[in-house]
Amino acid sequence: MVDKSIWGMLFVLGLGFACAPASWAAEAKAGKATYDKLCVSCHGTDGKGNPAMTKVFGEKTLNIATKATSDKKDEELLKVITEGRGKMPAAGKDLSKQDQKQVLEHIRALAK
Ligand code: HEC
Repeated sequence: MVDKSIWGMLFVLGLGFACAPASWAAEAKAGKATYDKLCVSCHGTDGKGNPAMTKVFGEKTLNIATKATSDKKDEELLKVITEGRGKMPAAGKDLSKQDQKQVLEHIRALAK
């Protein structure tokens, strides 16, 4: 009986270790926090555009959860985030390089 419960515990511990430290998950999570703060008002939680804002900017421009966006290079998207383009403000201009990368990871995750 005792033996069995120890194996059970080891199994649970093993699962925990297998899932916990995945660093990409941590990156995407930090990116989400930034996104929720600076980007969600226009691009929406799912990246498809906040319904209230799509009336102003148009659905097509605000939808960044698309292949068209994810196909673009990191540098190109980072430039839009930090310098703005058209009606997109330079929303990420004050972010650290790492924050910029994380928010980009988050956008790329939305497009999948
Ligand atoms: C005031 C509304 C607004 C906010 C806030 C905003 N965006 Fe945008 N975003 C836009 C608009 C409008 C466009 C389309 C620009 C164009 O037509 O060139 C756009 C375009 C983009 C694109 C380019 C997509 C492509 O396929 O080229 C990216 C990437 C992007 N936004 C990311 C972000 C991120 C990340 C944030 C937060 C740091 C953010 N946006 C905040 C309005 C906004």
